[in-house]
Amino acid sequence: MILSFHSPFPPHEHVPDAARSWSGRFSEPVSEIVKRYTASIPFDYRLAEFDIQGSLAHAAMLHHVGVLSKDDLDSIQRGMAELLTEIRAGGFNWSLDREDVHLNIEAALTAKIGDAGKRLHTGRSRNDQVATDIRLFLRDAIDHILAGLRACQTSLVDLAEAHADTVMPGFTHLQVAQPVTFGHHLLAYFEMLARDAERMADCRRRVNRLPLGAAALAGTSYPIDRQFVADQLGFDAVCENSLDAVSDRDFAIEFTAAAALVMTHLSRLSEELILWMSPRFGFIDLADRFCTGSSIMPQKKNPDVPELVRGKTGRVNGHLVALLTLMKGQPLAYNKDNQEDKEPLFDTVDTLNDTLAIYADMLTGVTVKPDAMRAAVMQGFATATDLADYLVKKGAPFRDAHEVVARAVRAADSSGRDLAELSLDELQAFSPMIGDDVYAVLTLEGSLAARDHFGGTAPAQVRAAIARARQRI
Ligand code: ARG
Repeated sequence: MILSFHSPFPPHEHVPDAARSWSGRFSEPVSEIVKRYTASIPFDYRLAEFDIQGSLAHAAMLHHVGVLSKDDLDSIQRGMAELLTEIRAGGFNWSLDREDVHLNIEAALTAKIGDAGKRLHTGRSRNDQVATDIRLFLRDAIDHILAGLRACQTSLVDLAEAHADTVMPGFTHLQVAQPVTFGHHLLAYFEMLARDAERMADCRRRVNRLPLGAAALAGTSYPIDRQFVADQLGFDAVCENSLDAVSDRDFAIEFTAAAALVMTHLSRLSEELILWMSPRFGFIDLADRFCTGSSIMPQKKNPDVPELVRGKTGRVNGHLVALLTLMKGQPLAYNKDNQEDKEPLFDTVDTLNDTLAIYADMLTGVTVKPDAMRAAVMQGFATATDLADYLVKKGAPFRDAHEVVARAVRAADSSGRDLAELSLDELQAFSPMIGDDVYAVLTLEGSLAARDHFGGTAPAQVRAAIARARQRI
């Protein structure tokens, strides 16, 4: 379960000296500003549940290999169960003096159960501990995101099914190009999200490996059983190299890259929703619950949600660059730089989860205006390619046919008409190959139905694609 993001700060400032990061090695504590600068508890407290999971698996393993007594393990399990309840209830006092989530929990455990709490950290470092926590967090997050992607895909397919026959202009260069069905257009986004889900699932395989046991960087002198811990925590494998296990965050980077692509895809769809909702297009309307008005212009209904999706894509892209930059200069093994991985990662997860949840709902509230779509496609000579293809089927080389149609379009344009509105005499002046069967080709329905192959926009193909899509979700 991902903890909610509202910060429980400010924490209680006065703590006894158990489990702090400065020790007998130091002659003085850090200053207040350095304490704030170096602490991660204001944001890493949300790893608490994963930290406890990891600690319980580690303790069970220590007992299993004979390093921790049964009594100590029992005490740790009891103490952690109490802490988990307190944390879930919001009653845990996170302290800045204890720097991060790991030291906070360890100190609270020791306060509850005494020396057994101090034995928990045997054969472990915060370096492999935090790497484990982030992987557990991210695995959980990816599972939520995969569900969110599926929900959006379902909404897209539902809307596509309702509009498998609805004709709209297909655009290139934002100029009317050829007729397509609205269903076909929506299924393009289904494909993008399908690839996004593949990327997330693939990334999950590399996230789901256990760093614990690497200790600070070199492993540990205790007879640990790393596979035991991996099994307890549901990891598919154990990280092979201790230096790599504690130091690389490539799994977080590739997750953020995959997230940036999800956002990029939804940003493109958002841009289209915004354009389509503008009265200049008038293709769709969004449900009121996704729009807001203007404080000064009473007539306004603004597509705020898609605009924000487009805007938040910038912030996720920024997180990707932040994580790449964080990693690039680090010598092996762990460096404190890595503490900076959390905020970009958490914000990416939160932004993506919210965006997917909103989108799945927003797509169910789209009202389509087929008449406006049809009127728009009539304005752009969208069947010009069909006329060229018609001439090719009659024997003309494609390049010649292209030129004939270009001249016909120019003539129609100068008289303010569509190609289908030119008389047979007028059309035949451009090519004697044209017969009166040409008008069937120049209709929108004829153009759509002609693109009747796998992946094409013919309504029959769109329906088949929808059936396949439902199988794939
Ligand atoms: N809060 C730290 C982080 O997020 C935990 C690891 C600290 N390790 C250390 N050697 N200081 O990375």
